[in-house]
Amino acid sequence: MDVTVPAASEESSDGGPWTLSRAERDTVSVAVASFSKRRDRSIWVLQSRRSILGVRCACEVLMAKQFREIGDTLKNFIASQKIFFTGSAASGSRVNISPRSTDHLHVLGPNEVAYLDLTGSGSETAAHVKADGALTLMLCAFDGTPMILRLYGKGRIALRGTPAYAAFLDRLYGGAEPPGARQIVCLDIDLVQTSCGFAVPLFDHVGERSVLDRWAEAKGEEGLRAYRAEKNAVSIDGLPTGFRDP
Ligand SMILES: Cc1cc2nc3c(=O)[nH]c(=O)nc-3n(C[C@H](O)[C@H](O)[C@H](O)COP(=O)(O)O)c2cc1C
Repeated sequence: MDVTVPAASEESSDGGPWTLSRAERDTVSVAVASFSKRRDRSIWVLQSRRSILGVRCACEVLMAKQFREIGDTLKNFIASQKIFFTGSAASGSRVNISPRSTDHLHVLGPNEVAYLDLTGSGSETAAHVKADGALTLMLCAFDGTPMILRLYGKGRIALRGTPAYAAFLDRLYGGAEPPGARQIVCLDIDLVQTSCGFAVPLFDHVGERSVLDRWAEAKGEEGLRAYRAEKNAVSIDGLPTGFRDP
């Protein structure tokens, strides 16, 4: 097990695994080292009382922590990630999970994030939001200090052509609409949760794909409107997405 115990300078009032005291960090290091050593020797039964207490203590200090809002440390964590996942469902629907680039994810306030949603072959998230379903955003560290961040709440959609959509573009994109943009998905956060992320693999970020931009530019405005009218009206479960172009 490869565990990075964070430096004291990474402590913050946001909590999460970055807020261990020095004593807690030492306990975790000892417990994890002890457990790993035994695992290497294929001894899966922890034999000493000291190890059992140490591992229990490690689990306690590294278990999930909950917060009411996104503080500066978590905001920086979001800014340093390359990918985020949306999870949503409405009553009786399938559960949708979508991976996206954080290029279009923005922290608007301590309890509000939003992403510019680009045209795709479906619009599951919007359908679930419209049906008053739940929306969760998840980010996890694929390098550096491990951490998983989950943002739970209720979604809102700002459609193209609305004042809210225009204000968002003005504030974050200098008023220019990126290729394929179709709506904004906002999340009003009621719970922020961090957890350790020790089982998340390490990945190197190679780059962003330009496929969607090229696809949208090739379709052109009229082509995209026709595509969205055909593909984006209902979810795979037949729920209305509420989508309409201005
Ligand atoms: C050009 C194009 C790009 C797409 N890009 C993504 C993507 O980045 N992430 C994703 O989950 N689905 C992508 N999809 C697939 C679906 O649009 C999407 O998964 C599905 O509709 C989920 O609903 P959501 O967009 O509300 O999350 C893409 C589809 C097309 C045609």
